[in-house]
Amino acid sequence: MIQKPKGCNDIYGREAKIWKYVESIIDATMEKYNYNYIRTPIFESTELFHRGIGESTDIVTKETYDFTDRGGRGMTLRPEGTAGVCRSYVENKMYGDPNQPVKVYYNGTMYRYERPQLGRNRELTQFGVEILGSDDPMADAEVISLAVNIYKMLGLKEIKVNINSLGDKESRDMYRKALSDYFKPHIGELCEDCQTRLEKNPLRILDCKVDADNVLLKNAPKTIDYLNKESKERFEAVKDYLDIMQVSYEVNPNIVRGLDYYNHTVFEIEAKVEGFGSNNVLGGGGRYNHLCSEIGGPETPCIGFASGIDRIVLALELEKIKMPIVEDIDLFLMYVNEEEKKYAAYLAQELRMAGFIVDTEYTGRGLKGQFKQADRLNAKYIAILNSEDLDNNEIKIKNNKTKEEEIISLDVLIYYLDEQLNTGVEEDYHECHCGDDECHRDGNCGDDCHCHHHE
Ligand code: HAM
Repeated sequence: MIQKPKGCNDIYGREAKIWKYVESIIDATMEKYNYNYIRTPIFESTELFHRGIGESTDIVTKETYDFTDRGGRGMTLRPEGTAGVCRSYVENKMYGDPNQPVKVYYNGTMYRYERPQLGRNRELTQFGVEILGSDDPMADAEVISLAVNIYKMLGLKEIKVNINSLGDKESRDMYRKALSDYFKPHIGELCEDCQTRLEKNPLRILDCKVDADNVLLKNAPKTIDYLNKESKERFEAVKDYLDIMQVSYEVNPNIVRGLDYYNHTVFEIEAKVEGFGSNNVLGGGGRYNHLCSEIGGPETPCIGFASGIDRIVLALELEKIKMPIVEDIDLFLMYVNEEEKKYAAYLAQELRMAGFIVDTEYTGRGLKGQFKQADRLNAKYIAILNSEDLDNNEIKIKNNKTKEEEIISLDVLIYYLDEQLNTGVEEDYHECHCGDDECHRDGNCGDDCHCHHHE
């Protein structure tokens, strides 16, 4: 049997409903903060990620899915979304639009060749936001508050925001030198990769997975002690805005992030979830003021963050958070003969257009089997179509909970269901543009209405 690739998941059934729910909260929150949706390619030229994320990062050296296309070009499946968004901002000259900053969000699959475990996949789905074209510390705080709000809206408790600052270029250079001086005498105590990192970019030693427990790393100099005056002031301003926005945080000098493009603010948000281990970091981000110029655009101050939807869904399940997932249907339409079936097809269409969740039989089950199927689908009501009733313009409706049955006129079916289910569907009837009060379709049918009131 052909199996899915290692580190990838099929999302279906109840889990798919949770995903859609999480995505609906993300979309609704983005609307409130006024971020526009952006879609960029799932693969980009390899060079973009090398230049953007950094040659010495684990992501670029060990985790990218690289391939050569049929035209001989080097391509890479995106391991993250920020580099692609910046490429798009530069290529489409969005910086020329007077409407700055550009605030965008995305939601899509990313690819990292990592060791799969709970909360760590090779195909992962991230949503993220980027503000391009603002250096305002308020923007940093907004991005953090947005992330926290989404987690809170989803019902996740005990969210911890860790923030730190890497400072500007001058501060980073001072820090880099301090790190290099600190690690040099201990080079023999570092793993092979870290020995190379010491030469290329000593900052990357701090997020080494092999040396993670080495005390040398724990006692290493902290970025925060090497910030120059401007960087310190900037960091204070970000914290002030977080206080104003009532976002709780902790300054954690160990946060350095695993991508090279960051400067000034960096942050990670973790959830205290039992059974999650070290993969409890739901999201992370920071400021990256030089990435756009690095890939050929103008110097553009930017801030953003991304969060793994896989991890959020896992956290919600591990925390047993109640979610408003629709796991039932309003009505199941049952039939026996061909004539009734045709009417079921017609009625299902009408009722769905009116706004009800309706399903029917597609596999030739007998009545007994259809009752069972209605139960499997958690149908609140069952309509048993019967030729004789239909000839009398009537229909048998059964409340699938109380098992009470009644025969009602087809003319009042929608009103009846609306009353029983309390769906509020009735209020929409008159939105129909055909102008006929008896027409039960909602606002989408336009003047070209073919409902039975007009035939
Ligand atoms: P990142 O920290 O590499 O940052 O990833 C952000 C989030 O994606 C993580 O906190 C985690 O929730 C999720 N994630 C990462 N790798 C995996 C994985 N293998 N399996 C499951 N989930 C994973 C970035 O990607 C930056 N682009 C964030 C950013 C946006 N910075 C500025 N703007």
